[in-house]
Amino acid sequence: MPTSTDKDAIDRKRWSQGRVRELHAWTDKLYSVRVDAPVQPFKAGQFTKIGLFIDDQLVSRPYSYVNAPHEEPLEFYFVTVPDGPLTNRLVELAPGDPIEVMSKASGFLTLDEVPQAPQLLLLSTGTAIGPFLSILKTDQPWQRFERVALVHAVRLAEELSFAETIAGVRAAHPDKFDFVPVVSREDTDFAFRARIPALIEDGRLEARLGLTIAPQTTQVMLCGNPDMVKATSATLAARGLQRNRRREPGQISVENYW
Ligand SMILES: Cc1cc2nc3c(=O)[nH]c(=O)nc-3n(C[C@H](O)[C@H](O)[C@H](O)COP(=O)(O)OP(=O)(O)OC[C@H]3O[C@@H](n4cnc5c(N)ncnc54)[C@H](O)[C@@H]3O)c2cc1C
Ligand SMILES: NC(=O)c1ccc[n+]([C@@H]2O[C@H](COP(=O)([O-])OP(=O)(O)OC[C@H]3O[C@@H](n4cnc5c(N)ncnc54)[C@H](OP(=O)(O)O)[C@@H]3O)[C@@H](O)[C@H]2O)c1
Repeated sequence: MPTSTDKDAIDRKRWSQGRVRELHAWTDKLYSVRVDAPVQPFKAGQFTKIGLFIDDQLVSRPYSYVNAPHEEPLEFYFVTVPDGPLTNRLVELAPGDPIEVMSKASGFLTLDEVPQAPQLLLLSTGTAIGPFLSILKTDQPWQRFERVALVHAVRLAEELSFAETIAGVRAAHPDKFDFVPVVSREDTDFAFRARIPALIEDGRLEARLGLTIAPQTTQVMLCGNPDMVKATSATLAARGLQRNRRREPGQISVENYW
């Protein structure tokens, strides 16, 4: 008897069969897989599931859209994790290979969930820069916020992917946008060497941006390593910011990657 994840039993209403257009290696661990697949409309900041048949069973995981809703192909940015069942197969993909994409997107790390404020801070670790790039490539942040800052914290400088995309955002919105790279495990002459919560606690992030983080002025979106999300939320709570929930609007919107 086939199970629900057998190749023959896959629900084609839920899963769209895509084709790999390109696998781009940023480093030996970081990749973008670019995919052609018909999917339902999604909002910038949302994620879907992508999957591969491994031993005839569908193995799928959630991934954020890096492309903006109006862009093609679909793009997913991932890191290979040691012994990770899916990521170590994704890196073997070649152009034309089949890949399953869940048609309907999920998630609430979207700007329509974020209350109005003058300033928007987007704080990410590792691959979690992806949903923020999708958001930054739409019109919404520029229509709604006076200042928008993207912080990308990585271990090594070579993991600061998407430099061209970020330069494009900066060129399009020079008076509103700042990018703050953080490289925690080596010295550089351009990035902070620290963790995001410490940069908020000691005031270095605000000094670099020339702004003050306060509940009246600032909305913060956090994405990535759950320990970073937790620690940064606690740091921001000490400044009076609170979790943003639909029933109880606040200033901190989060998504954990594991
Ligand atoms: C809402 C959501 C969105 C996500 N979006 C992305 C994305 O855009 N890009 C992406 O690479 N991953 C993303 N992930 C994680 C992704 O779903 C997989 O867990 C990851 O790609 C590893 O898959 P795996 O099968 O190889 O290993 P798994 O068995 O799924 O993971 C093994 C372990 O690897 C670590 N890990 C997982 N993901 C990451 C990561 N991104 N960075 C560092 N360590 C990690 C964790 O310790 C995890 O327990 C997301 C997760 C969630 C819940
Ligand atoms: N062995 C482990 O325990 C472990 C844990 C996580 C990931 N990994 C693996 O390492 C690979 C790369 O992961 P990654 O570098 O993309 O993700 P990452 O470990 O989340 O690191 C990205 C950035 O987040 C910072 N960070 C980590 N914990 C934090 C915290 N509590 N508060 C604030 N900032 C924090 C890191 O700083 P620091 O450099 O100071 O940590 C780094 O600058 C993956 O293969 C992943 O599976 C291993």
